[in-house]
Amino acid sequence: MRKKMTVVGSGNVGASLAQRLAEMELGDVVLVDIPQTEGMPAGKALDLMESSPIYGYDSKITGATTYEPTKNSDVVVITAGVPRKPGMSRDDLLNINAGIVQNVTQEIAKYSPNAILIIVSNPLDAMCQVALKTSKFPKHRVIGMAGALDSARMRFFIADALNVSAENVHAMVLGGHGDTMVPMPRFSTVAGIPVSEFIAKDKMDAIIQRTRDGGAEIVKLLKTGSAYYAPSASAAEMVEAILKDKHKIIPCAAYLQGEYGIEGVFVGVPVKLGTQGIEEIIKLELTHEEKAALQKSASAVKDLAAALK
Ligand code: NAI
Ligand code: 2OP
Repeated sequence: MRKKMTVVGSGNVGASLAQRLAEMELGDVVLVDIPQTEGMPAGKALDLMESSPIYGYDSKITGATTYEPTKNSDVVVITAGVPRKPGMSRDDLLNINAGIVQNVTQEIAKYSPNAILIIVSNPLDAMCQVALKTSKFPKHRVIGMAGALDSARMRFFIADALNVSAENVHAMVLGGHGDTMVPMPRFSTVAGIPVSEFIAKDKMDAIIQRTRDGGAEIVKLLKTGSAYYAPSASAAEMVEAILKDKHKIIPCAAYLQGEYGIEGVFVGVPVKLGTQGIEEIIKLELTHEEKAALQKSASAVKDLAAALK
């Protein structure tokens, strides 16, 4: 039987994610939005179905403004919410999106109690906390998408600087999805070779800063919203790892209970993703400096989570 995926929020990230999931033939997709959007999710779903003969996929995409059609989904990705506008930080979105994520999670937990939840809505790490608390799912089934995106951005910037294939570049960004995120050049490689062999420290520092500002750079250019092509690609990578039980290591926001000396908060760390969701949190030996940066990032996430009304 085909796998079933639900994408909640049929806006920029949600709709492009539905397209990617269908084109990857990972299963059937239900695209959900609020009742006020009326035919919008159904319209986008039909439009995507009409491209299936050209792309050659048999995934069925349907649109909905209620949750009954999402029943028994294997994976649910929550992209519902309000995106950033120029001048807004991710944190400005806190309480608006917390209410949205709470409502959506209640519905999802009711109709798909065994699903794996991937959270995309911002501010990401705090929204994961809302979803975990609301769903009462075990922590390995509530996962935040951010590290995959931030790492992809860093990978692209390195590949671009060196004029090498992006496929050659691996990079890792840990911590919260915000200004305190922690790009890890020590765990970044080009064709398996440490990136420090190719890029001098000052140039790498500029790449690290550009990675931290990656979301804002796109917002500034788009003016009417935030990034969605790379975010949807990153969420699709996570869904694929889960549904294909790939045991793939991807940096994701995970609920930490003592790992890395961090307690009771979602923070981006390398995790192994498979059919159970998070199969393992990979514990890296960090330098004093890296550890301090991760702790600082975790504190920022904690402060934000504490500000949730
Ligand atoms: P968008 O505005 O294009 O789409 C959001 C959709 O959510 C809209 O269609 C809206 O009607 C819908 N929505 C609002 N309330 C809802 C509810 N209660 N139930 C169902 N749907 C609801 O925004 P976009 O660009 O798709 O971004 C979505 C969210 O993802 C934002 O919070 C954004 O900040 C976040 N984001 C996070 C990233 C990450 O790395 N974690 C990357 C990119 C975006
Ligand atoms: C991004 O990093 C807005 O969080 C979103 O593009």
